[in-house]
Amino acid sequence: MRLEEEIQRRRTFAIISHPDAGKTTLTEKLLLYGGAIQIAGAVKSNKIKKTATSDFMEIEKQRGISVATSVMGFEYKDYKINILDTPGHKDFQEDTYRTLTAADSVIVVIDVAKGVEPQTEKLVEVCRMRNIPIIVFINKLDRHGKDGFELLDEIEQKLHINVTPLSWPINMGPEFKGVYSIFEQKLNLFTPAKQTIEEYVEISDTSDPVLDEMVGTKDADILREELELVTEVYPNFDHQTYLDGNISPVFFGSALNNFGVMELLNCFIQIAPNPLPYQTEERLIKPTEDAFTGFVFKIHANLDPNHRDRIAFVRVTSGIFKRNVFYHHVRSNKKIRFSSPTAFMAQKKSIVDEVYPGDIVGLHDTGNFKIGDSITEGEMLHFKGIPSFSPELFKYIENADPMKSKQLAKGIDQLMDEGVAQLFVGKTSTRKIIGTVGALQFEVIEYRLLHEYGAKCRYEPITLYKTAWITSKNKAQLDDFISRKSGSLAVDKEGRLVFLAESKYALDLAMEKYKEIEFHFTSEF
Ligand code: G4P
Repeated sequence: MRLEEEIQRRRTFAIISHPDAGKTTLTEKLLLYGGAIQIAGAVKSNKIKKTATSDFMEIEKQRGISVATSVMGFEYKDYKINILDTPGHKDFQEDTYRTLTAADSVIVVIDVAKGVEPQTEKLVEVCRMRNIPIIVFINKLDRHGKDGFELLDEIEQKLHINVTPLSWPINMGPEFKGVYSIFEQKLNLFTPAKQTIEEYVEISDTSDPVLDEMVGTKDADILREELELVTEVYPNFDHQTYLDGNISPVFFGSALNNFGVMELLNCFIQIAPNPLPYQTEERLIKPTEDAFTGFVFKIHANLDPNHRDRIAFVRVTSGIFKRNVFYHHVRSNKKIRFSSPTAFMAQKKSIVDEVYPGDIVGLHDTGNFKIGDSITEGEMLHFKGIPSFSPELFKYIENADPMKSKQLAKGIDQLMDEGVAQLFVGKTSTRKIIGTVGALQFEVIEYRLLHEYGAKCRYEPITLYKTAWITSKNKAQLDDFISRKSGSLAVDKEGRLVFLAESKYALDLAMEKYKEIEFHFTSEF
């Protein structure tokens, strides 16, 4: 029974946004409500502001901050809420994709002036692939921005989601007066820089003269008209449709001014899903099952460069994880036990004895874990939906210090397990190719190889457009492809065959010619 109750009260989610839309500010205000932090400014933005220049200190800082803020748990009104932090920088977007595999729902933050920005589009696309329920928070209403209806149209078109507003703003910018909560049928009046709990004005319905008293007749009339239009155009909120990922409620507010945040949180705890079942290759795992299961969705290197220890972040998917109990590491087929599993509450880490489904436990790792690994009580389970994507940037990686080739090999191996980048080894040339989704990763790899492994690497350019994993049921055609394209073939870390396409033309041509070969652009096929 206890397990069931703990699952019911858990909400594990991620906040996603384009940088600068207000993700950090919103996170901080949520933590303030949960009493998890006392002062504003306590949550550090984990974005690397400098994008073009190589600023290693900045990278190091980023790593430090993101360990501290990777998971922020807090208690609010009998609910245990876990916010999974996602990196802001676009070069680390793959980390964000993986973090989303550990979340049961997301809140998307959109800047009222900027509307839907490119990074948000990409991230929401990943959410849609898994039908993750989405709540939208339109931020910075204290500034001038786009008209509410225009924004909702833009969200529907660019993010390909259906929306229904659960609050509606009364003006914006300097004339911003507050929002009308459609969800709770209350008026929430705006006062800049609120430090305390939001105060609502109860109104029976929108014809209530109290509305005119509070916001003036002109604005009250505009609100009435707009709400009428909202009712005509948008469907009523339906909980199940939201849980199925088919409708996204929208809220308006200003995170910086602590406005609309409590309203969002109160609705969130009511409607957001509690820990969901997980699909593995073998079967569906229900959180209520007695036996513990979990998977690694993120690995973080220790900050101390003298120790190569890492923290593996494990999402508990069923049962109760217990300290000092032997569990089965499926990939290595080994028993491992953990004497100091870590729980994450706000910015504090502490050793815990028991961890419930929906929660994230940090496990000390000396190099055993890899992203996607499962840990169970013995059952051989393999989690699905934690793909690597075909990288976009490529370089040859060479050893720049022949005395340190072992260190280099080990370093590359472990960094790849952490999911920093992907490694391909040329089938004929045996040269190593690093593939990444962002330019910054190359710097991170070079820097970390040197500082954590004492190895020096050098990059050399390679002309590559894309890589595709290839498979085929037609052995003759595959053999033909392999013999003709041997110079353009490589293997990934799992030994799977990869086609290195030099150009879009070469890729299109190969796909056209070899009809019975399947070209895969994510590692899960
Ligand atoms: P991010 O994590 O999504 O990248 O965004 P972050 O919260 O860091 O916010 C980006 C900027 O937008 C910050 O200003 C922040 O203060 C501001 N901001 C957030 N919410 C609101 C809001 O509701 N209204 C207004 N007017 N501004 C908001 P900054 O100057 O870049 O940083 P800082 O020096 O204030 O930290």
